[in-house]
Amino acid sequence: MTAPARILVTGATGAVGSAVMRALRAAGHTPHGVSRRGGEGTGHSAWHIGAEDPPPELRGPWDAVVHCAADTRWNLPDEEAEGANVVPLRAVLALAGPGTHFVHLSSSFVTGLEGDITSPSRDAYRNSYEWSKAHAERIVHAERDGADIVRFPIVMGARADGALDRYSGFFWLPAAMCNGAVPALVAEEKGLLDMVSTDDVAGHVARLLASGPPDGHRLSVLGRGDGAQRVGDAFDTVLEALNDWRAEHDVTPLDRLPYVTPQQWNRFYLPFAEEYLDRAQLLKVTAFRAYQGYLSVTDPFDITVQVPDTRDVLYRSIRRWAETHEASARRVPRPWRA
Ligand SMILES: NC(=O)c1ccc[n+]([C@@H]2O[C@H](COP(=O)([O-])OP(=O)(O)OC[C@H]3O[C@@H](n4cnc5c(N)ncnc54)[C@H](OP(=O)(O)O)[C@@H]3O)[C@@H](O)[C@H]2O)c1
Repeated sequence: MTAPARILVTGATGAVGSAVMRALRAAGHTPHGVSRRGGEGTGHSAWHIGAEDPPPELRGPWDAVVHCAADTRWNLPDEEAEGANVVPLRAVLALAGPGTHFVHLSSSFVTGLEGDITSPSRDAYRNSYEWSKAHAERIVHAERDGADIVRFPIVMGARADGALDRYSGFFWLPAAMCNGAVPALVAEEKGLLDMVSTDDVAGHVARLLASGPPDGHRLSVLGRGDGAQRVGDAFDTVLEALNDWRAEHDVTPLDRLPYVTPQQWNRFYLPFAEEYLDRAQLLKVTAFRAYQGYLSVTDPFDITVQVPDTRDVLYRSIRRWAETHEASARRVPRPWRA
């Protein structure tokens, strides 16, 4: 398929979906976007997928569907994660016909603790996000004879300037560093922090559509693999980007946070914190527990497409975050007191 007549992009206002829309437009297509709250222009519909019937203009079949809509929060209760990442997929699949080129966006972390997506058990995954996204991939396999599944790790902004249409997930880190919510980085300093730019994902999706639907199921795993930045180096990049921005705005520089391994944290520091910190402090400390597993990855992802180096992308994305979240980026952390 060289030029699909009708291309539907779900989650079109999100970090990735917006970039996919731009890449498809740049490739000469006129994609139709969908999001829960709707977007600007006529080529965009509001549809709370999975909770209501699709509006009439979305009736299928489509030549291509790029399914980006998801809830990327890691800490949703299981039932909500299922409602956010599985139920909508079934509704979107209903708009696809046998000839539709279906592209499902997934996460590199979907293989959970066992290294693949086959287990339906919640215990096989670090959190409800991984578990529900793995279920979604299994549904794509079961419901379609052919489809593209595209996995990728943490998403940063555009390669040129770090711009992102939505800052979520990883951007807790610069916010927490500025407001002092994290007293230490619970991470393996030598672990791998794999990332991609929205451009990498969007460009890949555009190339997949240009190449036509696959025979069977085709898996792409984007990332840097063993070339990913080390956690310590990535945190230094984040600190450098924040402090460069702070210097230009006459704000006190941030100190480098100490590292504590997850084992040290859980065995020694957390029990101590539970005894001495107040409720608000403790909530902050434990809120970041969900990220520990991701900052301690030592085995590289088995990638199929290596993206260019991401250090500059990270630097630019954090600077861009500071520019667009000035009040948060200007905060001066206060020392923790028990
Ligand atoms: N961001 C990452 O670091 C990352 C990493 C790996 C994989 N991924 C995957 O990449 C894809 C896109 O993620 P993202 O980061 O772009 O997410 P995002 O920025 O949070 O955007 C989510 C998009 O999906 C829409 N949406 C969510 N649930 C919906 C529903 N039930 N009905 C209609 N629209 C719905 C949202 O619309 P509203 O804003 O109107 O609610 C928004 O447009 C997801 O499949 C995600 O799992 C993301």
